[in-house]
Amino acid sequence: MANNRLAVKLPGLELKNPVMPASGTCWYGQEFAQNFDLNVLGSLVIKSTTIQPRDGNPKPRTTETTGGWLNSNGLQNVGVDQVVGAKLPWLATNFPQLPVIGSAAGFSIEEYVTIVQKLNHAPNINAIELNVSCPNVAHGGLAFGTDPQTVEELTKQCVAASQVPLYVKLTPNITDIVEIALAAQRGGAAGLTMINTLTGLSIDLNTRKPALGNGTGGLSGPAIKPMALAMIHKVRQVSELPIIGVGGISSAEDVLEMMMAGANAVQVGAANYHDPLSCPKIIAQLPTVMDFYGIDNLAQIQGAQF
Ligand code: FUM
Repeated sequence: MANNRLAVKLPGLELKNPVMPASGTCWYGQEFAQNFDLNVLGSLVIKSTTIQPRDGNPKPRTTETTGGWLNSNGLQNVGVDQVVGAKLPWLATNFPQLPVIGSAAGFSIEEYVTIVQKLNHAPNINAIELNVSCPNVAHGGLAFGTDPQTVEELTKQCVAASQVPLYVKLTPNITDIVEIALAAQRGGAAGLTMINTLTGLSIDLNTRKPALGNGTGGLSGPAIKPMALAMIHKVRQVSELPIIGVGGISSAEDVLEMMMAGANAVQVGAANYHDPLSCPKIIAQLPTVMDFYGIDNLAQIQGAQF
């Protein structure tokens, strides 16, 4: 099969290609499915799920900046019971072959464990991301993801509660991301997703106030790609855990760059805001760009060392 050259195997995930929309950029897939066949995706990561539904932060929640986007959604989501009872069944019915990655965001370790247990009930969840890195909530999020002991304990308890592999999503808003990566590894993570957004601020000159309703937000998009590459490369030097790279990918060239830095698969985030067809376009471009750089298959460059 010609497409085998794009195939990637990760814990819990047999991907026909390494490209998936990042959490929060395609919600539960329903709107994206009006634009393209979701079956072309390597996988799909749903919006981070909390125990209770959340309305999210005050609007506006997104604003464009030079080279990127700021978002402060505040973990807006329908809550884990709706996700398991309606959103995941919709995906299972309409896209039964599509590997789906859940995403858990709690406000205590116990909440993470409960969300992981509930997501495990959905037959089409292949893996779960532990989002310990949302910069847009006063409690939880970064408060967990910047403390190695908490990350290790949280990961350990969630791993014990889960039948599917867990990937810990790391924050770049820290001095040394390696410490947190190794804490997740000690806790038994099957892999890492990195990086989440960087805390940023944009000011509206007319109102002289922050452009976002919540003040600060998380910066994503091309502006953060070099930071993502550097952090992925740094973690790759000390850990053999699979890494799903995310941060500023908008082309097939970016995918290859991220894999050469040490990633095993990639997520596309902010590019989806500009163009909801970003993922299928990148996937379609990959074989041509691989040919151009003399890459027969992605296994050749997956997690490459330098
Ligand atoms: O505000 C948000 O919902 C963002 C979440 C995240 O970056 O993890």
